This record gives sequence, C-alpha cells and structure tokens, in this order.
Amino acid sequence: MCGIVGYIGFREAYPIVIKGLQRLEYRGYDSAGVALLDHSSKLNIYKKAGKVAELENFVIGKDSSGSIGMGHTRWATHGAPSDRNSHPHESGNGNLAIIHNGIIENYGPLKEELISRGHIFNSDTDTEVLIHLIEDIQKEAKIDLQQAVREALKEVVGAYAIVIMSKEDPEMLIAARKGSPLVIGVGEKEYFIASDATPIVEYTKNVIYLNDNEIAYLKTNELTIRTIDNTVKTPYVQQLEIKLEMLEKGGYEHFMLKEIYEQPRSINDCMRGRIYPLEGKIQLGGIKEYAEKFKNAHRIIIVACGTSWHAGLVGEYLIEEYARIPVEVEYASEFRYRNPIISENDIVIAISQSGETADTMAAIEMAKSKGATIFGICNVVGASIPRLSDAGMYTHAGPEIGVASTKAFTAQVTALTLMAFYMAEVKGTLPKTKLIALLSELERIPSLVEKALESDKLILEIAEKFKDSRNALFLGRGSGFPVALEGALKLKEISYIHAEGYPAAEMKHGPIALIDEEMPVIVIATKNSSYEKVISNIQEVKARKGIVVAIVTEGDTDVVKMADYSIEIPASDEAFLPLLATIPLQLLSYHIAVLRGCNVDQPRNLAKSVTVE
Ligand code: F6R
Repeated sequence: MCGIVGYIGFREAYPIVIKGLQRLEYRGYDSAGVALLDHSSKLNIYKKAGKVAELENFVIGKDSSGSIGMGHTRWATHGAPSDRNSHPHESGNGNLAIIHNGIIENYGPLKEELISRGHIFNSDTDTEVLIHLIEDIQKEAKIDLQQAVREALKEVVGAYAIVIMSKEDPEMLIAARKGSPLVIGVGEKEYFIASDATPIVEYTKNVIYLNDNEIAYLKTNELTIRTIDNTVKTPYVQQLEIKLEMLEKGGYEHFMLKEIYEQPRSINDCMRGRIYPLEGKIQLGGIKEYAEKFKNAHRIIIVACGTSWHAGLVGEYLIEEYARIPVEVEYASEFRYRNPIISENDIVIAISQSGETADTMAAIEMAKSKGATIFGICNVVGASIPRLSDAGMYTHAGPEIGVASTKAFTAQVTALTLMAFYMAEVKGTLPKTKLIALLSELERIPSLVEKALESDKLILEIAEKFKDSRNALFLGRGSGFPVALEGALKLKEISYIHAEGYPAAEMKHGPIALIDEEMPVIVIATKNSSYEKVISNIQEVKARKGIVVAIVTEGDTDVVKMADYSIEIPASDEAFLPLLATIPLQLLSYHIAVLRGCNVDQPRNLAKSVTVE
C-alpha cells in the first residue's frame, strides 16, 4: 500500500521524486505529496488528494528546487483521503517532515500523551503522531535527530517504512523500516529510496534492501546503516534484475493488457532452467536441501490471499493428483486467527505476488512458531515473504504494475505445477514416462498461451454484449473451479460488475435461482475428465434461459452447439487447463472494464500490495 520515494544527491530532486511517484502509483492512488529542501534549506511541502497528476499540476509555478526530496502516494488507512491527511506530515515546529507506509498501532495513546504536552495536530493520521513524537523526544532529551528517531521507533508498535528530512540537518535523509519494504539505490554521490525498486532502476542497478529494525542515514556521499539498538550494519549491495522496459506500457493501452500479453514470456521465465523434459527431471534450487522434508511431509498447507489463494487451489489439485500429499488451502487472514493444528512434518507454502501482504506474513510467522517449514512462492525479489521463509522459489514474472493480477497468477500456477511434479518425482508417485510426457507438454504451454491470446478480437465482441450486465456467474469443475473463481474476481475488481465463481455442480444448490435471460454464465467446459458433467450443467443453465459463454477445447462441437458464445483454447493435458483457460477470462474482464470506462490499472479502493491487516 502507500508508495515512498526519496532522493539525495547532486541532481534536482523533484523530477526524480515525481517520476518515482508515478511508478509507485499502483501501490496507492488516493493522494500524493512531496517535500523538498531548497538550496537555502527552506522546506517546501506540496500535497493533494487525488492522483499524482493532480499533485504535479498543483506544483506548477511553485518552488520545486532542491537536491533533497521525498514523495508519497497514499492508500488511506487512518483518516479519509484529503489534502490535510496526505503525506508528508510536519512536526509542530515545522523543522521535520515525514512520509510513512504502514500503520502505527499505538498512535492513539501516543497522540493523547503528546496532546497533553501541548502538541497540536493538523491531520487524522497515525503518521503525524510519529513525527511529533520524534520532535518531542529530541527537544526533551536534547539529543540529535538520529538518536531521537531511534528512541521514537522503540516506542512504536506496528509496521512502518519511513523517510524523514530535517531543515536543521539539510544534508541528510533518514530512512527506517519494520514490516514494510524499503529499498535504497546506490549511485555515484547520490542515493535513492523507494518502497520497491521500480523508481530506482533507471538510475542505478545497485540496491540495498533494508531489513526490519534498521535505520539508514543517507548523505550525498555517505551511507550508514544502524539497527534500532545502534549497532552498525554492513550494507549488502545487490544487483537489480528488472529492466526499465518492464515498467513501461510498451505501446499497450494499459499495463493490465501488456501483462496479459506477456504471459507466454513470463510462464517461460518461471520454468527456465527448472525443467529437463528429456530426462524427466525438475530442478528447484531453492528446495534442493528440503527434498527429504517434502518426501516425508504429512500435509501441505497453502496460505495466501486473493488471486494468490486461487493459485493455491490449483496447487492443491496438482499436488494431491501427482504427489499424493494431502493439501489444505487457507485464507491467510483466517488461518492466522485460528489455532490450527500444525506439526513439524507439515510444510506451509505461502504464495504472494508482492511478498508484502500483511496477513500472509502473519500466517507465516504463526506457522513458523509452531514448527512448520515455510516455503515461499513470491514474485518480487527481495520482498519480506522470501526473507521470512525457510526456502522458496521466485516466479520471475517480472514487475506487475496493473493492480489486478494476471501474469503473476499464471506464474504462480506454473511454480506450483513445477512443485507438484518435483514432489511427485522425489516421492516416486509418477511413472517416469508420464513425467517426461507432462514436462514436454509443459514446455509447449507458452506457445499454447500465445494461441489462446489470438481469440482477443472475438472476446472483445463478446464483451460488447455483456458490458452492461449487472451480475455474472463463473462455473468450473476440478481445477476449472479456481479458474472460475479467478475469472469472477477479475471481472468484479476491474469492472465493478458483481460476479461469483462456483463449482459447476454446486450451482443447483442455490445460485441457479439467479439465472434468467439477462444473466451471463461463463463456463469452463474444456475436454477433460469432467467434460460430460459440465455439459449437464450447461443444459441446466440453458433450461432456465441463461446465456452461456463457454470456454471450450479447440475443435469442440458439442458444447459449441449448446452455448450462446464459445471461446476456444488449445488442447492440452488436463494438468495445464488453468494456465490456458485463465487467458480468455482475463481478456473478457479487461474488455468489459474498458468498455464501461473503468480505470483497469487502478481500480477504485484497491492497492497492489496489501500491507495492512
Ligand atoms: C487480485 C489481486 C489480489 C492479490 C492479493 C494478494 O487481482 O491482485 O487479490 O492477489 O491482494 O496479494 P499478494 O499476492 O501480493 O500477496
């Protein structure tokens, strides 16, 4: 949620900060602000409710000079989106400014205490409390800002990534993190700070991922990292793998469309170097040492949220089918608040695109404390979830900017497919010949996805028919069920049409009451083990005058005859149905949302990484 960017160096800070905010806008887009220290150490703060573009217009004609600056794009938690609640926030004496991503849970008592000591607040945010606390500590204890920040952070309960600048220390930015991400870009006589690497990559590939409870003191030519207890840490500089073009729309109208079309590449990148079809081998570097653990696992528990949870359901189907290990798939937000029975022979797989989802992180911590081995499947390199996990694999889908997840989902499904086959291999539950056949077919999937994308024009025509629908039902069976859930989530989150995903056979236990001649029912009706059963479900819909849009295997004639509209996907092994059937559903949601005039890349009320509980 919220995006943070900061700069200190020899260039003008404002253009770097504002561009950084545009790159981070997918993290939150209800308000934005910047703070700049001009060359005479005057602190200029500009902030506005609305998108970064509105802030940019607001700053035109104002003093935006200075080579130290920071900016923030907000997804409101405490306090409605408004100019006064936007970041940066100032201390009472106007000397300090702060931007913050996260939640200060004990801001209530801290605020009361500060009010009783004469502090006056100008916003409803938890963040403003923190900057007043730092000011208060500095004044009372007569200590320098660096020490005051450390002392204040010791009093804070919650999560934060913060950047602070001071009129009295105009040569320095202070950044700290606990539970919310922060990356430092290391240039020549300049430093960049951001919530993720996207604003940094065009200036430098050298980055440092700040760890929890670390505070970075950045000067133009010097970086010091200390823990909250004041122990000096040696920075570990890593090389970024992302490329600038991955962050641009590349000629597409929206990031979401670009990311849908990137899937042949992203699925391929997820498998690259990991499968050896001729030998029937899978190599997963991250879990090599855990082969025995997987072999002896009594149970696998998958924890995730949203789309990643849907990928988990596909994983359940694949792991049980091929590796014969019982799997439970849990919403991280529910799992963490139960008292689940977990033993040392359980493996917990946490799936997350962002690697920062608060509920998933809390679920990991809880499972860890009960002795489970944690395996993370994550897209964002260096994020918190891979650090919390014992081992894991990156999905390598590349940066996903569209708020609705597309390529990250298919990459997660690919990663889980590899894991299922890997477990089957170590457990010996799959004959070698079958494994060789499956891996050879998996290698073909990127080109089959490319073929599935060719239905785009037809899907646009179908979208025209349904753009004014108020409801939609998505049905599937087996691994087609999570695909139906994901199709429904995509449609509702970007087009605001109410949609539900259901196991096809469950329809007659309730949702069938909704079906009338207005209701589009999207059915995954590909040729697999449940084909005949799905045909019966389609007949049930047709008997009630429902409108059927069927996702069918190429060459199908039976379903095509029954359905009102049919979209073909290439034939493949049932194991790969989710990877192919998802593609037309993504395109359908995309076109319907665009036709309805919705902002598909930044749907209302959503943020890309949900770092609050
Ligand atoms: C939907 C979507 C969300 C995320 C969910 C989990 O398109 O993107 O439902 O899947 O917020 O996020 P991650 O995967 O980052 O943990």
